[in-house]
Parts: sequence; C-alpha cells; structure tokens
Amino acid sequence: MDAFVINGRSQLRGEITVNGSKNAALPLMAATILASNQVTLRSVPRLADIRNMQRLLAELGLDVEESEAGSGPRSLTFRTLDESACHARYDIVRTMRASISVLGPLLARRGYGRVSMPGGCAIGDRPVDLHLRGLAALGAEIALDSGDIIARAPQGRDGRPRLRGARLFLGGPFGSTVLGTANVMSAATLAEGETVIESAACEPEIVDLANLLNAMGARVSGAGTPRITIEGVRELGGADHEVMPDRIEAGTWIMAAAVTNSPLVIHNCPIDALMAVTEALKEVGVRVTEAPDTADPLRATVEVISERTLHPVQITTQPHPGYPTDLQAQMMALLCHADGNSVITERIFPQRFLHVAELSRMGAQLFRQGPTVIVSGVRELVGAPVMASDLRASASLVLAGLAARGTTVINRVYHLDRGYEKMEVKLQALGADIERVDASDLPADLHR
Ligand code: EPU
Repeated sequence: MDAFVINGRSQLRGEITVNGSKNAALPLMAATILASNQVTLRSVPRLADIRNMQRLLAELGLDVEESEAGSGPRSLTFRTLDESACHARYDIVRTMRASISVLGPLLARRGYGRVSMPGGCAIGDRPVDLHLRGLAALGAEIALDSGDIIARAPQGRDGRPRLRGARLFLGGPFGSTVLGTANVMSAATLAEGETVIESAACEPEIVDLANLLNAMGARVSGAGTPRITIEGVRELGGADHEVMPDRIEAGTWIMAAAVTNSPLVIHNCPIDALMAVTEALKEVGVRVTEAPDTADPLRATVEVISERTLHPVQITTQPHPGYPTDLQAQMMALLCHADGNSVITERIFPQRFLHVAELSRMGAQLFRQGPTVIVSGVRELVGAPVMASDLRASASLVLAGLAARGTTVINRVYHLDRGYEKMEVKLQALGADIERVDASDLPADLHR
C-alpha cells in the first residue's frame, strides 16, 4: 500500500489547475445509459472512482472509449452496445457508493435495474431510502432480494415499461440528497408526463447534470433550486459535454495555500460555487480574489493570500449553498493554526470526524461532543505517522503535514486517490516536500 512522506514547513509558490469534478462526473457517466446515441464527456478526472464507474458501465453493456490526451484533460465517449445486463453487483458497489446512480437511468431506459444495496461507509450509515422513495413515486415497483435493490418500471400507455411523471418530495432528516436528486431527475427525463421534484438538492453538480440531460434532448428546468421540473420525452440522443471543475479540489488547494501561508494562483476554479467557503475564509483572514478578466465564474483564475495571524470562526456544514461537508476536514486542519477557539458543527454526516483522532496525534487540540468539535488553535502541529481513513479526512492530513514541523507519514493514501488526481505531483510542482512511497519500505514504527 502506498503512503505519503511529507517534510513540512515548505513554502508553496506557483500556479495550479483544478481538474474536472469527480462528484459531477460520476452521475454524468451514469446518465449516459439513457442515451440512444454516443455521449462524450470532456475533462473527466483520472481517479479510482471514475475507473470503477467505467468498469460498472462496461458490465452494463456500454462501450467506453478514452481519448489520447497524454496527461492533460481527457475525454470519455460512451456508447450502449447491449441493454441486457442490468445488474450492478456488490463487488463494484461496495468499492464505490455512487454506483447507486445507475439505478434511475437503468429503470428509465431499460425498464429494470438491479443494484446491490450500498452499505454504510467510514463517514456514516448513508441510507438510500430517499432515492427509492423518489423512484417509487414515479411508479417503480421496488423490492429487496439477497442484498440487491430490484426496481421495475410500470407498463406505459403503449404497453412497454415506462415510468410515470409525479410530484414528489426528496427532503430527509439531513436535508435533500445529491445523488438521490440525480437519480430521480435522470429517471424522470424518459417518464410519461411531468415530474416536479420538491426539496431537490441545489448542488452545482445537479446543475451540471441537468445541462447534460438537456443537451441530450431532455426538458429539465429549475436545477440549482429546490424545485426541479422535468417534462418527460420519448428518447434522448447524444451530446458533448464538459464536466464542471471540482469545487472541493479547488477548496482544498485554497486551504493548502492558507495553511502554509503561501500565495497561490489557482486556474479553472469554480469560485461561484464556493461562496460559503470564501466567506468563511475571509473571516479567518484568507483572501481569495478573482482575476479581473474572469469570463466564466465557474472557471475563474483566483489568487489566494493569507494574513500571518489566522482568526477563529464558527462553521456549520449545510447543503449547498451552505458550507460543504466535503471541505469540513480540510477547514479543521487550517483552524488548528488559528489564534483562538473555533467551532465546527457537521450537519450532513454527524459521524464524519475520523480525522479528529489523527490530527490530535500531530498535536491538534480538538474537543468533540457529538456533531461538534471545538478546535483550539496551537502554535504548531508536529509531524507524526497517521492513517488516512476517508477521502476528505486524508486531504486534511496532507494539509496538516504540509504545515507541521518535521515529518508526517500518511498511510493508506488509496483513499486520497479516489478523489485527487496525483495530489503529490501537483504539490511537488508547487515546492512541497512530499513523496509517494511503498509503505512496506518504511520502518515498522511508521506503519499505521
Ligand atoms: N440521506 C438519507 N437518505 C437517502 C440519501 C441520503 O437520509 O436516501 C442522508 C445522508 O445520510 C446524509 C444526507 O442525507 O446525511 C446527504 O446525503 P447525500 O445523499 O446528499 O449524499 P450523496 O449524494 O450520497 C454526495 C457526494 C458526497 C458528499 C454528499 C453531500 C458524490 C459521489 N458524493 O453524496 O461526497 O459528501 O453528496 O454533499 O457526489 C466526497 O466526495 O468525499 C463525498 C463523500
């Protein structure tokens, strides 16, 4: 297994470009099941989760062709060859929960889908009841068999299986659901009649998906607001679509600049989707300014400059446009260096605090009570062997390691590879002292 060895305290300098978004790309890829012609997605990141989705789509009868773009942005082209295999098996679903995104498209296009029930994961229980409630409202008959969700569309007017438009509510105890909204919105594009989704997720990735679906010939309006309306159509064609830049990757780079007190220029930054983050950072003493010639606020060039003394803040994670849960762990690493006590409350995944114990190993002063952590700023963090646990917790350990005195060894960085493309290579180019090594080559006391 790979590990990162980081010698902290290097000053970062230079420019960095944000990749296409993982969390946008996964439901976009699933939506290609709906198309009767080929769909090309551009700027698809090279990540473990994307490779898993490619593998899943291939099992479901799609041909996935990759452009030859060297190490630059690459495109993937999807074409359905065979519609008979409709089963997303446990061995893929357990490695990637976003596999559930194929259920709505399978049901809408093929009238039948079987997807292994995703279990919980490191950040919590993660039920899929809202996905199923939404698809059932569209007339799907849903059953559970041997750990698989089996969904069938009802008979349409012409005797063939077809979902029926409906007015439905997708709110749950923690707000709406991002992938649930993606699933139901995708399914409704081919349903008979109109669907209105109330309490839809407002995340920018949902807007990106609606843009792809509309380019394929769907009639979706209101994406990005809590009410999405979809006029069902009989068929969807092909499209060519550029995946939006990754707002969580961008936010991670902004915090890498802040935690190392380094000025950084970030290209392809979806600054419009990061308002809650840049507002919070302003209070901390980190300024993120847009280049004046920015034409598209979803693809801006920004400069990050931070004050020497960082100020404590209160952060509560919320559905978009609130502060994103996917940047909670990284913000915690930054606030460890603030001058005073900060309060972080996690309202999306109340158990998402695996980084707390690991940051504490590096000298962080953290006090957790339920979904809230009090972060008392310390003068410095000190390098230590730590363990990556989930994707964003791992990113927070990298930020902590970059700022810490001494050497940090982060074990199990495969979690990080799920969401950040060659993170260490990008950081090396900015001047960080970070190396990927085979953990079995490290002395035994550095393994965790
Ligand atoms: N929830 C339910 N029932 C459901 C679905 C969700 O109660 O049927 C709850 C969840 O347990 C959670 C809340 O609703 O408390 C929100 O979950 P959501 O469904 O929105 O999460 P998701 O769609 O499964 C996506 C991202 C996550 C990100 C969340 C929240 C992808 C592939 N994943 O997950 O990203 O944290 O939205 O913004 O888009 C990550 O990238 O590290 C990551 C975990």
